[in-house]
Amino acid sequence: MGIQWRDSLSIGVEAIDNQHKELLLRFDRLLNACQAGQGIGELGKLQAFLEEYVHTHFNDEEALQRKHSYPDYETHRAEHLYFVEQINKLKRETQQEGVSTHHVVETNNMLLKWLLNHISKVDTKLGAFLKSGSP
Ligand SMILES: [Fe+2]
Repeated sequence: MGIQWRDSLSIGVEAIDNQHKELLLRFDRLLNACQAGQGIGELGKLQAFLEEYVHTHFNDEEALQRKHSYPDYETHRAEHLYFVEQINKLKRETQQEGVSTHHVVETNNMLLKWLLNHISKVDTKLGAFLKSGSP
């Protein structure tokens, strides 16, 4: 099992595509660590990355949408906020309880859903809008 970037995920804006590629790389790294029995150790690194990443990436993506008066801005942004909430919740849990296998599994599930439901669908919809020659 591995996670790889594919060109169909491109939204046609290099900076954003590169951010998505970086997230997939980090996700793949977690999966590989899990296979090697080192998921718990890797989770802390991923959480530190995500904290900074979601801030920068979502800001950039939302600014792009505002710049192009993207009609789905509000619903798209709501998904970002929900994802940030999920990340924060997991971070709190691991800080309070210590990292255990179920946190790693939950993080894997969360990232997989994000890839399948947001990056593959909601972000590519934004890409289609931008490619269609938006204002
Ligand atoms: Fe997005």
